[in-house]
Amino acid sequence: MSTSRIFVVTGSNKGIGYGIVKALCKEAGNDAVVYLTARSVERGNEAVKALNKLGLKPAFHPLDVDDASSIETFANFLKKEHGGLDVLVNNAAMAFKNAATESMAVQAKETIRVNYFGLQAVCRALFPLLRSHARVVNVSSCVGHLSKVPGEQLRSTLASPDLTEQQLDDLMTGFVKAAGDGSHEALGWQNSTYSVSKVGVSALTRIQQKQLDADTTREDIVINHVHPGYVDTDMTSHKGTLTIEAGAAAPTYLALLPPNCSSPRGEYVWHDKRLVDWVNEANPAPGF
Ligand SMILES: NC(=O)c1ccc[n+]([C@@H]2O[C@H](COP(=O)([O-])OP(=O)(O)OC[C@H]3O[C@@H](n4cnc5c(N)ncnc54)[C@H](OP(=O)(O)O)[C@@H]3O)[C@@H](O)[C@H]2O)c1
Repeated sequence: MSTSRIFVVTGSNKGIGYGIVKALCKEAGNDAVVYLTARSVERGNEAVKALNKLGLKPAFHPLDVDDASSIETFANFLKKEHGGLDVLVNNAAMAFKNAATESMAVQAKETIRVNYFGLQAVCRALFPLLRSHARVVNVSSCVGHLSKVPGEQLRSTLASPDLTEQQLDDLMTGFVKAAGDGSHEALGWQNSTYSVSKVGVSALTRIQQKQLDADTTREDIVINHVHPGYVDTDMTSHKGTLTIEAGAAAPTYLALLPPNCSSPRGEYVWHDKRLVDWVNEANPAPGF
């Protein structure tokens, strides 16, 4: 079994995830094994080849965050091959385009399933493998800021330090159900399934940091959520203003936080690496 430091980036065959793998291959040190993962073996291998041309050598493993057996296979592989995991970047996500013709019900179901429950499923499978001093980065968004929830009561539920993972799951499932009959706005949600999924990811991160802090079997595991910036990728139809390298900067910084750092820890981090108070501070990008 290897003694290397093991890094995993989900959804990294293109876009910001690819940029994070590229940066980690350069910055994580000689003892690092960086896994570029993708739901398509073909697209994953193409991405690895492109990085090889730059002299970088990521490892590859298939991982579909929307497929329980794919997640289980990968977790078993990591356990057998490396005995643990040091850095997990939960980057994979999807978004319907503004012009999408799918109903709100379909969009809500798919987006929450992949972006929230898919990320959570990866965490549930891989968190037991995290070693002391591990770093986890949940890629959220500026539209994952709490201010994107119009309902005051819902906001206060989401902001509560006592919010449990089960309650958050129920809120996400409740949103999907309500989106099916058009009652989601009456419940306090806004009309963007992508934004709701990212609010869920951000709220989940805060809960996960508390869970990891309470784990007495391992020490100093840190998880943060990050807005990577408005980035020129397929997701933004290439309207984003930042390069994927710039979009990868804050997630990479969080992935490489040194051992025993006291901050950021369970924080919402902006693309310029500054901490933004998810509950009490105005959204620095209110226009989105
Ligand atoms: N771009 C921005 O301005 C921006 C702003 C804020 C937040 N973000 C967030 O940043 C992250 C990366 O976004 P991006 O702009 O780089 O998007 P992107 O170019 O569309 O890339 C998304 C990546 O996720 C993968 N993916 C989708 N569904 C998956 C699944 N079920 N299993 C595994 N991988 C899956 C995609 O794989 P395929 O190629 O197979 O589809 C692709 O590799 C996302 O979490 C996004 O929400 C982006």
